[in-house]
Amino acid sequence: AENMLWGGRFTQGLDPLMVKYNTSLPYDKIFWSQDIRGSIAFARANLAAGILTSDEFAAIEKGFGQIAEEWRSGKFEEKENDEDIHTANERRLSELLGKDVGGKLHTGRSRNEQIATDMRLWLRDELRTLEGYLMDLIKVAVSRSEKEIDVLMPGYTHLQKAQPVRWSHWLLSHATAFTSDLERLREVISRVNRSPLGCGALAGNPFKIDRDAMAKELGFEGLLYNSMNAVADREFVLETMQWGSSFMLKISRWAEDLIIYSSLEFGFVRLADTYSTGSSLMPQKKNADSLELLRGKSGRAFGQMAGLYCTIKGLPTTYNKDLQESVEPMLDHIKTVGDSMQIATGVLSTLSIHPDKMLAALAPEMLATEFADYLVRKGVPFREGHHISGRVVQLAEENSVPMDKLTVEQLQGVDARFDEDVVTCLDYERAVELKDATGGTSKSAVREQIVVLKGILAAK
Ligand code: ARG
Repeated sequence: AENMLWGGRFTQGLDPLMVKYNTSLPYDKIFWSQDIRGSIAFARANLAAGILTSDEFAAIEKGFGQIAEEWRSGKFEEKENDEDIHTANERRLSELLGKDVGGKLHTGRSRNEQIATDMRLWLRDELRTLEGYLMDLIKVAVSRSEKEIDVLMPGYTHLQKAQPVRWSHWLLSHATAFTSDLERLREVISRVNRSPLGCGALAGNPFKIDRDAMAKELGFEGLLYNSMNAVADREFVLETMQWGSSFMLKISRWAEDLIIYSSLEFGFVRLADTYSTGSSLMPQKKNADSLELLRGKSGRAFGQMAGLYCTIKGLPTTYNKDLQESVEPMLDHIKTVGDSMQIATGVLSTLSIHPDKMLAALAPEMLATEFADYLVRKGVPFREGHHISGRVVQLAEENSVPMDKLTVEQLQGVDARFDEDVVTCLDYERAVELKDATGGTSKSAVREQIVVLKGILAAK
């Protein structure tokens, strides 16, 4: 154990399985560049604090330049005793510079602040990339909704035909939900982007280190102001996973809609071959695997969130090794959410639609509410109009004809207040255009939504 960087007080080495059980290098080496940037910033601050001479600092910076090159080219040699990325980088630095200089780097510093720093730097940059992916997805929905504004489709409640709506209105219903994720993400990024560097193991730094200078060098927006919290906290990971889970929840419902709409029975949309797969047995099959995976992977994202909640909930203040278990779920969560966003964008931008099938799926019964609204415009209380319209539906059923095949005389037999102009109720386009209050499905109301979404996309 004396080879370990903490080996001073130990007389026995680690059990071989314990070595493997303990090490995080296989996955936290993904932070090699963040760890090096953090170390250089820390060394520069220790130079300013008089802990390092300028020669020593120059040697450290140069050494890290070489180590970065080794990682980049895949030549970095990992050693058995490298517990994590921090240990590996420091061990290599001492090999290059000798222990006299290399051994000074960690003055006043703890791996507890290092891992929190590395994770936050990595996550901040990843979340910015995801913000771009999410904006792409919303943009595709918005631009389709502009182009395809004339297309009508059945709107559903309880998966039963309810009222006609614009296809664009469906597109924007999901896009609107995703803009909450966009707004939330922008907030999450700003909380992730705070610096724990200079907090030590838990109690703070004793060498007058300039935390603001380090934060600035690393592009952090500000500091974490309590050192104990800075090293104990993984709320920034939990919050990211709440955010990611909320997006996955909604992309899963979006995918479910499209799975239904792409079935042969509906046939409203057709997935591009690039996002479908076939069956090894049934030659005719074209399956919506991309959409099913979007739905399926949401479960995995929620699991990561719930898992980390369980890991953290009973931990005593401050750092405990349990916190190492926040790294892998974070990495996978970001990959899952980021990939899902790109797949969803790909699916949506290559999807073909069948307006004829959507139109054919509209049924006159979906206009029953129009008859009630018609009577309301003649001064009939809505509840009474609803009842009368219900009798019209019933009459059509009794005669085994669709509602639009009833004659004006038959309608007048139900209620004398139906005039010749009642036939206007049977016009789908008119029914849609009447819903022109803000948020509705008329062209003008849909265009208003497009303006709102574009505003949120531009607010940055
Ligand atoms: N690999 C550790 C982690 O991911 C780094 C911090 C280790 N700190 C400690 N006191 N053992 O959490």
